[in-house]
This record gives sequence, C-alpha cells and structure tokens, in this order.
Amino acid sequence: MANVAVIGAQWGDEGKGKVVDWLASRADIVVRFQGGHNAGHTLVVGNQTYKLSLLPSGLVRGKLGVIGNGVVIDPEALLAEIARVRAQGLDVGPERLRIAETAPLILPLHAALDRAREAARGERRIGTTGRGIGPAYEDKVARRAIRVCDLAEPQTLADKLDELLLHHNTLLAGLGAPVFAKRDLLDRLLELAPLVLPYAEQVWERLDEARRAGRRILFEGAQAVMLDVDHGTYPFVTSSNTVAATAASGSGVGPGAVGFVLGIAKAYTTRVGAGPFPTELHDATGKLLGERGHEFGTVTGRPRRCGWFDAVMVRQAAKVGGIQGLALTKLDVLDGLPELNICTGYRLGGETLRRLPAAPAAQQAVQPVYETVPGWSASTRGARSWADLPAAAVKYVRRIEELVETPVTLLSTSPERDDTILMRDPFEG
Ligand code: GDP
Ligand code: IMO
Ligand code: MG
Repeated sequence: MANVAVIGAQWGDEGKGKVVDWLASRADIVVRFQGGHNAGHTLVVGNQTYKLSLLPSGLVRGKLGVIGNGVVIDPEALLAEIARVRAQGLDVGPERLRIAETAPLILPLHAALDRAREAARGERRIGTTGRGIGPAYEDKVARRAIRVCDLAEPQTLADKLDELLLHHNTLLAGLGAPVFAKRDLLDRLLELAPLVLPYAEQVWERLDEARRAGRRILFEGAQAVMLDVDHGTYPFVTSSNTVAATAASGSGVGPGAVGFVLGIAKAYTTRVGAGPFPTELHDATGKLLGERGHEFGTVTGRPRRCGWFDAVMVRQAAKVGGIQGLALTKLDVLDGLPELNICTGYRLGGETLRRLPAAPAAQQAVQPVYETVPGWSASTRGARSWADLPAAAVKYVRRIEELVETPVTLLSTSPERDDTILMRDPFEG
C-alpha cells in the first residue's frame, strides 16, 4: 500500500481537484504542500459544485485536510473559503483541518506588490493571479515572513512588521503604489489570530503518526510542472516548486513517504497567463476547445489559451516531476473532431528537439511537429469503462502513453465525480 501524490503535468487546471476528490474516497488524509490561493479547483458532486483554492479537496469527502508548511496562506482568504464551503454544508472545523504552524502568511501588502509589479512590467507581465503568491515566497526565502505560529506572539508580529514594512513600503512607494501602516496590519493580525490558531499545529508529527498507524495519505499538488519555479517556462511560472518531490519538503515527511506519483494532463493543452505555448491554436479549433471545455480560469475568470496535446512537454514534465502514471482528463471535449494533432517534437533552426529548450527566446521560437491521428464521432462524455470508448479514442490514449513514456492509469470523461475510468489503483503502487 502506497501513499499517492497528484500533480499537474501541463500548465495547471488539468482537473487535479476532480481527481483528488475521486481518489480521496480511498485515502484518510489529504495534504496540500505548495502554492496558495492562486490555485482554483472545481469539484462537481451531483448538483453541488465546490470551488476550492486553499482547502484540500479531500474535505468534500469528509477526510482530514492538512495544509503543509510549503503552502503560503492568506488568512483572510482562508477564513472566507472556510465560511463559503461551510455554507455549502461541509464540516471544516479544527478537527477536520490542520495547518502547519510554520506556513508563511500572505498579507495585503503582498497582493499590492504583486499587482504593482505586474502593472510596471506592462507588455512583459507574467499574468499572475495578483494574489501575492510571488512576494510571499520571496519573503519566506528572505527570512522575513510572518508565519502562522507568529500569530501567537504579539511582540514577534510587531517586530516582524517593522522589517516587512521597511522592505515593502520602500518598493511600493518606488512603484507609485499606496503604502501600508503598521498599526492597521498589526490590529488585523491580532483579530485574525484567535480565528486561525485553533487550526495550527506541527503537522509533521500528525503525518508521522498517521504513517505509523498505516493511514493512507494523498498529497494534492496545485499548479503544474510547467509552472514550477525551477523546471517550468521561467519566468512565466509560479513561485513554488510544483514537482512531486515538494510533497515531502512541503509537508514535513521524508521523500520515501510520497509514494506513487500520478500526473494529471488534459487530453489537449491550456494555459492562463503569459508565456510560451508551442501548440497554442489561434483558430476556430482553439475557440471550440475553449467553449466546449469551459476554459475560463477558476480564480481570475480569464479565458484560458487552448491548443493541441503536447507530448514533448508532458514527457518532460513526467521525467522531472517524477510522474509514474498519467490521468488523462477532458477526453470528452475532443468528441466529434474529425482529426487530432499530437505534438511529437519541436523544430528550432534546422533541428528537431524532444525537449523544451530553457532559454526564453528559444522557448518562444520552437515550432511544433505534429502527428495527425483520426478523431471519433461517438460521445465519450460520461463513459465509465474502457469498453465504452470508441476505438479511435482508445488509440489516441495509447499513442499518448507511448509518446509520454508513461502509462495512462486513469481517464476522466466529464466534470462529474464518478465519470472516471480507473485502470490501475495508485494506492496499490
Ligand atoms: P485543477 O486546477 O487542476 O483542479 O482544475 P480546474 O478545476 O481549475 O479546471 C478543470 C475544469 O475541468 C473544472 O471545471 C472541472 O470541473 C472540469 N473537468 C475536470 N475533468 C473533466 C473532464 O473529464 N471532462 C470535462 N468536460 N470537464 C472536466
Ligand atoms: P491550479 O492549481 C493555472 C499561473 C498564473 C500565471 C503564473 C504565475 O488551479 O492548476 P502566480 O499568481 O502563481 O504568481 O501566477 O501561474 N497560475 C496558474 N495557472 N492554474 C493554476 O492553479 C495557477 N496558479 C498560478 O496564471 O501565469
Ligand atoms: Mg485550477
């Protein structure tokens, strides 16, 4: 019996939330280990739709949710999300949700800096979610972050705010943005402290006990490998490591505890925000994928850019991300297309590459090499068994497996929880 980590294998929004919710029935604990409320996960269960950003998707199944030290937490966003899902009938008290006391906080000044910097970048903007994720991770590495545990120490908060404000107000003033007052921030943090602290603990200890008791842990990734700060399309990335290795460091377990790594990929490709996208379609097919797939960002509402499945990129994501099995989602969105293209290489200069180059201009310049395969006219939407799929859809999945050099172990055929085909149980390793 293994634990399982779920990570995105493209640029996010692959359907991680749906897959984590589905797999959570087999798990005891669901752990978020990186990212913050830049994530947006939509779960459809019967006539209820849950939109989660910071809360582990396993809460919908009534499982214990853990937010690890690798996550950056906006306490206002956390409390608002808890209130929102409570209104939908979920139980999210401190007995259901535990938060690492070493997790750094996102404050209003982080979001302000994120937005001011994006505005200053103009045409070169990254297209961030504007939620302060980057600045909060910068403060963590710079050793000036306010962490969850600091909420219990008013004097620590006051001292840390001095250092934070010296840094941030200087930058904000330089960018022509309003500055922040210490008193306001301190008062608000002291108000938030009693609301957040009941959830806080040393989660590493709980996870250690759970492991020794033979409990199953599901690690829930946010974003995706191509948005990883080291391995993604830098600088058009998020500010955390999104690869499966982060599940260990971002929650306080050893690398051996992570278990089977399931990578989630759409049967085509999407991206929100700026940056290279070799298989992007600017034509009617791209528009069709966007409409059929309802490709609008959960967090920002921005339309997602759409394109063909890029096997070169997903193969690379599988290698660097540690992906052992692939879950292919949104197969149904391709129903009815007469032909499909799969990117099998990139042309750059006179060469054909099987990897994405690292240098930004080269990343922008690569041209996809396509293999064209037949589409299918029958519907795959809602299919719950392999036998229900048209032959051409099965062939498409098999070809992706070959090109990505990773077995497809799960398929998703609609947003609904149970419209899922399992070929191999990841908890069996
Ligand atoms: P995440 O960020 O990876 O959790 O993905 P999002 O929730 O942001 O985006 C995925 C979207 O696709 C959501 O609206 C899901 O409800 C939806 N979805 C997930 N799987 C499928 C599928 O197999 N078919 C279709 N049509 N929609 C899906
Ligand atoms: P989930 O978990 C898709 C993108 C942003 C931007 C870049 C940096 O739902 O898959 P940030 O605010 O993180 O500094 O923005 O990363 N991005 C996502 N794109 N899905 C996400 O999360 C994302 N989280 C961040 O659009 O391009
Ligand atoms: Mg999303």
